[in-house]
Amino acid sequence: KFEHLAQTPPMGWNSWNNFGCDVDEKLIKETADYMVSSGMKDAGYEYVNIDDCWHGERDANGFIQADPERFPSGIKALADYVHSKGLKFGIYSDAGWTTCGGKPGSRGYEFQDAQMYAKWGVDYLKYDWCATDGLKAEGAYQTMREAIHKAGRPMVFSICEWGDNQPWEWAKPIGHLWRTTGDIYNCFDCEYDHGTWSSWGVLQILDMQDDLRQYAGPGHWNDPDMMEVGNGMTEAEDRSHFSMWAMLAAPLIAGNDIRNMSEATRKILTNKAVIAVDQDELGVQGFKYSSKNGVEVWFKPLANDEWAMAVLNRNKGEVKFEFKWRNEVVKDELTHRTITFNEQKFDWQDLWNKSNKGHTKKFLKTKIAGHDTLMFRLTPAKN
Ligand code: DGJ
Repeated sequence: KFEHLAQTPPMGWNSWNNFGCDVDEKLIKETADYMVSSGMKDAGYEYVNIDDCWHGERDANGFIQADPERFPSGIKALADYVHSKGLKFGIYSDAGWTTCGGKPGSRGYEFQDAQMYAKWGVDYLKYDWCATDGLKAEGAYQTMREAIHKAGRPMVFSICEWGDNQPWEWAKPIGHLWRTTGDIYNCFDCEYDHGTWSSWGVLQILDMQDDLRQYAGPGHWNDPDMMEVGNGMTEAEDRSHFSMWAMLAAPLIAGNDIRNMSEATRKILTNKAVIAVDQDELGVQGFKYSSKNGVEVWFKPLANDEWAMAVLNRNKGEVKFEFKWRNEVVKDELTHRTITFNEQKFDWQDLWNKSNKGHTKKFLKTKIAGHDTLMFRLTPAKN
């Protein structure tokens, strides 16, 4: 059922960040293969999603067809292949007359397109917002949601209007996730100016998530965009990117070439302890607790009275970091949960170095490399 999907943030892969319009069936099949052999499937990644530019023309009856040169076997055969690997298959369209890549959009063809996707075995639809002059976002997304519903196949519905129309205020009954910002750019700390629009580095996107956590929860997530892990940032930057997306309970959609990734990238993407923070059943987005000299401390309440904690070093250089547990009181305005460290004791675990750190009566005193992030899981101590 539509309503039961995405109870935790969706996990998978999407072609756009690394391949843009250069997509074909070979890429998608090989990606599905590597999703299994790399251990990503085992770590929880499920959806293999083609983004823009898979389209050919509409047929005489208006039904959309795949580009016959890039997808000679057709989308149904491709979806079958992905399903045969125990994975799910996702596709892309646009609420306007054309996609951002200039391919046929779904405007006026919503019900036909949804029927076609259902026939092909599509499990996930990302729905973009180019060429929509004069359209109202809520109505346009509502129409496609109805069309998916009528087509009768459960599909995750990913709303991609870049946060322009405050989707967090209306999209909860319509889609399972909604983009909160313009596109991510493959850098840690930059703005990339395209002329009439900008795309954003990891830190810039992170800073745009403030005040949105109240809107996220099981079945309806804020989407700070797909990941750039493995696309050229440093290992520390990739680790920070992945850590913070997990703290945000963000969808974890890999955007790299997983057929050729380094062992370092593979290890980041498949860190199950960090993924468990993202996928925690409570489904509460984390929040910034403190910020000092470019070092931010974040907390995310987890099920069973546990917490995740991240320490992000936004500086280029290494910093010393001290956290005197007993002086800190962490209050979550949303869940009304509080940690008073001088009264409560936690065992804490380092999720990147995979080590147990004892309990929080001791001092946390450490160094953090430039652009790197530490991540911990705090578990109430038995004694
Ligand atoms: C804009 C979206 O925000 C991107 O993620 C990508 O889907 C492109 N359009 C495709 O044209």
